[in-house]
Amino acid sequence: MTMHVRDFREADRRALTALWEACGLTRPWNDPNDDIDRAVAAREATILVGYCGDQLTGSVMAGHDGHRGWVYYLAVDPAHQGRGAGRELMEEAGLWLASRGAPKLELMVRDGNDKAAKFYESLGFERQQVTVYGKWLKAPSETSTRKAS
Ligand SMILES: CC(C)(COP(=O)(O)OP(=O)(O)OC[C@H]1O[C@@H](n2cnc3c(N)ncnc32)[C@H](O)[C@@H]1OP(=O)(O)O)[C@@H](O)C(=O)NCCC(=O)NCCS
Repeated sequence: MTMHVRDFREADRRALTALWEACGLTRPWNDPNDDIDRAVAAREATILVGYCGDQLTGSVMAGHDGHRGWVYYLAVDPAHQGRGAGRELMEEAGLWLASRGAPKLELMVRDGNDKAAKFYESLGFERQQVTVYGKWLKAPSETSTRKAS
């Protein structure tokens, strides 16, 4: 079945976070809803979702920081993997970023995610000679804008 790609809408939220869970992209210290909120609020970011019929089967988050384009949360429902959906979502993200002037697309792959690394290499991405450093600006437990209830 053909995948239809469009911008995220609020009605997609529950299915989108479930997709990210199913694809192993969430972490206990990071509420994915906060990531959705920040992408929706940012002018230079978007979330694209892919639908097969009425099922949300794919996603990609893209953002332009003024220097590079970045991609996060690329996910294809496990039952729909291996049919070109990941490639299509990356092409859509690349078009979105290129139309905003980003000269280069970069992304991070978690150590051990060899499947994703091979996927990106088959799309022409090259491993960069850099090490990524990070530092919390707020304690992880303080970053969530959603209070547990
Ligand atoms: C990575 C992911 C998005 C790929 O999606 P997909 O729809 O299965 O990929 P596609 O079918 O579009 O594959 C595109 C190309 O990558 C290749 N490819 C995909 N997975 C591969 C693998 N594990 N090893 C080698 N090549 C692979 C395909 O053969 C295909 O090549 P072709 O077009 O020349 O035939 C999907 O596996 C996924 O959601 N993984 C879990 C979440 C994740 O890890 N996301 C990335 C975070 S950095």
